[in-house]
Amino acid sequence: MRIALLSGTNRPGSNTRKVVKHLEAVYRAAGVDAPVLDLVDLPPTLFAPEAYAEHPAAFTPFADTFLRADGVHVVVPEYNGGAPGVLKYFIDMLKYPESFARKPVAFTGLSAGIWGAFRPVEHLESLFINLGSYVYPERVFLPGIATHLEEDGSLSNPVSIKRLQTQASGFVDFAARLKKPVEA
Ligand SMILES: Cc1cc2nc3c(=O)[nH]c(=O)nc-3n(C[C@H](O)[C@H](O)[C@H](O)COP(=O)(O)O)c2cc1C
Repeated sequence: MRIALLSGTNRPGSNTRKVVKHLEAVYRAAGVDAPVLDLVDLPPTLFAPEAYAEHPAAFTPFADTFLRADGVHVVVPEYNGGAPGVLKYFIDMLKYPESFARKPVAFTGLSAGIWGAFRPVEHLESLFINLGSYVYPERVFLPGIATHLEEDGSLSNPVSIKRLQTQASGFVDFAARLKKPVEA
């Protein structure tokens, strides 16, 4: 079982990446392969207008990691009431439809403010449904993200830690059931 973790911003030192790091450990502890797609690592050439016609070779590992994952867990911060533009651009650069069709996807949102990225999560869910993905219904929202984090970047809030644990284990089960059709 392979669950790719998509860190939904390219802001260096982002809190999103800290939540992804936590989830990476949760998945690995459950014996799940959990490659991280960190948008901060995207090749600059991907942002040239020509990339729509021909993706740079350096983007191939990103596209393949997404494509080959049994499920994708997206961690998205709230930027101006939506998702970071780079996350939508990344989605737009992936192979369609094979990257998305029947792909299990889960969402965790975080923000500085009180909404916990509720709007970007809802928007991304409708976007992925439109692309033919299977959206895992249990979302986790982390509003006031600074109150969830220690100085070393680790998560400190026991309620949030429990919610992320429950979400991750439920998502693994969800993705596994979709991978192997249940026998009649
Ligand atoms: C461009 C930008 C826009 C933001 N807009 C909002 C916002 O609309 N609502 C909010 O609660 N926080 C907003 N924030 C704060 C982020 O939610 C906060 O930085 C949080 O740590 C998650 O983002 P990060 O992964 O970049 O750290 C914004 C941050 C940036 C960089």
